[in-house]
Amino acid sequence: MTLKVKNICCIGAGYVGGPTMTVLANYCPDIHINVIDKNKDRINAWNDEDLSKLPIYEPGLKELIKKCRGRNIFFTTKVKESISKADMIFISVNTPTKEKGVGAGQASDLKWIEASAREIAKYSKDNAIIIEKSTLPVKTAETIKEILDASQRKLQDRKKFFVLSNPEFLAEGNAINDLEYPDRVLIGGDNEFAIQALIDIYSRWVDPKKIITTNLWSSELSKLCANAFLAQRISSINSISALCERTGADINEVSKAIGTDSRIGSKFLNAGVGFGGSCFKKDILNLIYISNFYGLKEVAKYWEQVLKINHWQAKRLSTIVVEKLFGTITDKKIAILGFSFKANTNDTRESPAIEICNSLIEEGAKLSIYDPKVNREQIEKDLNLKENKEFNFHSGIGSWQFSNNISSASKNADAILILTEWAEFMNINWSEVSTKMRPPSWVFDLRNVVNIEEAKEYGIKTWRVGFEEPNK
Ligand code: NAD
Ligand code: UGA
Repeated sequence: MTLKVKNICCIGAGYVGGPTMTVLANYCPDIHINVIDKNKDRINAWNDEDLSKLPIYEPGLKELIKKCRGRNIFFTTKVKESISKADMIFISVNTPTKEKGVGAGQASDLKWIEASAREIAKYSKDNAIIIEKSTLPVKTAETIKEILDASQRKLQDRKKFFVLSNPEFLAEGNAINDLEYPDRVLIGGDNEFAIQALIDIYSRWVDPKKIITTNLWSSELSKLCANAFLAQRISSINSISALCERTGADINEVSKAIGTDSRIGSKFLNAGVGFGGSCFKKDILNLIYISNFYGLKEVAKYWEQVLKINHWQAKRLSTIVVEKLFGTITDKKIAILGFSFKANTNDTRESPAIEICNSLIEEGAKLSIYDPKVNREQIEKDLNLKENKEFNFHSGIGSWQFSNNISSASKNADAILILTEWAEFMNINWSEVSTKMRPPSWVFDLRNVVNIEEAKEYGIKTWRVGFEEPNK
């Protein structure tokens, strides 16, 4: 049996569905792809003539959309039509942490997965290949299979489905590159023909040696583990950054010294404000939930610690800022440079900047926030606080305002905090910025990206994560 794929549907036009399908469309011009989403505004944004209005900012995405949109990739809200024509259906919907009910605060909320499975059961054709692209708890494929079967009452008319797991490993800000040159493609399944159909698609641009096939459960679990291991490295290096600050060891030198051991490797050893993003926290919480579910309390506790250190890092850095500014930041102006959870994305989900800004506002600071890609409305939503365009420096009440650039953010500021590693912050013109700030002016480089020696030359006091305090 050969399963030919001429038409693909992807449910979910988010950070994964949009870029993944666009890259697929680019390499498979003969395949017609419909990306569907229940969020009409998001679909409209994907279809906007003005490519700067795409719902997601990713380097290289605009160019591919320009080439493929309307050729063989279409963004639409037409659920029935798109699912019914598809030979292969990717489920790429959100799987956040459950907010209420059993497992609240830890387990994944699978209601969007379930809704997708029900729609597939209703509209899809016989022999459709269903792909789990979303990150899911191990054993979810069983649930999907059950929904697909149970939704069809008449046994004699039952459609056949093949369910595969094909988790996505792209990192935001580097999504197009990760999709075009993946370290590996993971396919879990129990039907060789369905697996081959997916291999045939990826092998158009991925070296077949990089395509790993496993059983369904290994594939589902590997995705959660990969994120947990990456997050664990960040918590490890952040815990060491605190030790460096006390001992005079230099975190960059330590990272380099340990990272050159080929067994450890050099990537993901940058100390900072702690990891953010929509996935690390939720996936570790999910791992903790699953471990407890299977009675593995020690395993659960081990992973809990990764989250605890992450939270501790953001908290301790906020406290250091307050301490350095003579123990009070009430009515002081602080420039926040960077609000997204990492560089090259407009995504602010779980950004450490949110927690840090909120705690500074609570202490009475006036924040002037600049990020190259995050807009005013998003910051307002994340801080759950309206922008205050006119600072009243005698109110004692913390507030924030939006800035369009580094220069306006730093005007009259007592301190600058670097929260995201945007390239722009590596080349700050300290000669200009130092004249705008109020002395004694500080820069807190919480990402280790700033040209700190130059800042010092212009009389700015400096503090860097993972370095002994120079201004004691
Ligand atoms: P997202 O929130 O950006 O996008 C999900 C989209 O699915 C939303 O636009 C939502 O409206 C839509 N949706 C939900 N239910 C639907 C339904 N029944 N019908 C139609 N549309 C529906 O989420 P995301 O960041 O793209 O993540 C999706 C999944 O991929 C998650 O499981 C996540 O863990 C995983 N993942 C994310 C990344 C990442 O970098 N963001 C990377 C790898 C894996
Ligand atoms: C991460 C994984 O890297 C992807 O493989 C995975 O597909 C994705 O999660 C997912 O499942 O959603 P992402 O969160 O987009 O990707 O970005 P990362 O580059 O992993 O960064 C995550 C966070 O860790 C960011 O806040 C980043 O600033 C921080 N980080 C990263 C550090 O603090 N130090 C580092 O050395 C690396």
